[in-house]
Amino acid sequence: MLARDWYYTQRRRLGIDSAVASIGDSHDNSDLRTRAALSMLGVQPGWRVADIGCGNGVLAVEAALMGADVDAIDISPAMLALARIQASDRKVALRTQPAGLLSFAYQPNSYDLIVSEFALHHLPDFWKAVALARIYAALKPGASFYLRDIVFVSMPDGVDRDVEAWADFSIKNHDFDRDSVVTHMRDEYSTFGWVIERMLTDVGFTLVSADYHAPLHGTYLLRKPKPGEQG
Ligand SMILES: C[S@@+](CC[C@H](N)C(=O)[O-])C[C@H]1O[C@@H](n2cnc3c(N)ncnc32)[C@H](O)[C@@H]1O
Repeated sequence: MLARDWYYTQRRRLGIDSAVASIGDSHDNSDLRTRAALSMLGVQPGWRVADIGCGNGVLAVEAALMGADVDAIDISPAMLALARIQASDRKVALRTQPAGLLSFAYQPNSYDLIVSEFALHHLPDFWKAVALARIYAALKPGASFYLRDIVFVSMPDGVDRDVEAWADFSIKNHDFDRDSVVTHMRDEYSTFGWVIERMLTDVGFTLVSADYHAPLHGTYLLRKPKPGEQG
């Protein structure tokens, strides 16, 4: 058995996420947006769904309310505690797993849908690709992966101008303060949209859509091809 003492320590990111402070605000309409996304993804009663980096569990709870069998996975026990409170308030069952993108337990080819929103940027690029390969392995052939994250749409030579534009946008539209934007840039691992797209297709996904809306937000819909289909 390999010692794997070189494996990335995801828990070092605990508490660093600058956006975590904003999670849990109920004044946004994240449950409505989430329900619309899950309907678009065609969630059916009985589907096996995982939300990895689930935060306070808004999406996981909505999926459970739609009848899915949901794994709410997050590296932060505090976040999972919030998810459990939310599930109990809404009277749905949720299975929680204190694990990360690089360590969640799964049966190969078992999920009908995996979602990960604003968590992948916690990993450096090498480990992002490893995480994406694990997600690919966990999905049933023909199943979907829905990924949202903070990504750079610009080319590397536009970084100064684009980061300032993103800071202004986030401060005006998302109530972020400048400190949290600065922390994200300096200490987290958002990468370019074209890097993410290449990783996704290289691990085998079919890129159904890539939507770059608002400065630095990427939304990707992926499909794991069935045997014999082209990736
Ligand atoms: C910005 S929050 C997003 C939460 C939720 N998905 C949402 O969109 O509201 C990022 C979440 O990712 C979790 N996280 C950080 N590193 C992670 C990792 N390596 N694997 C899984 N989750 C991670 C954090 O604990 C946090 O709950």
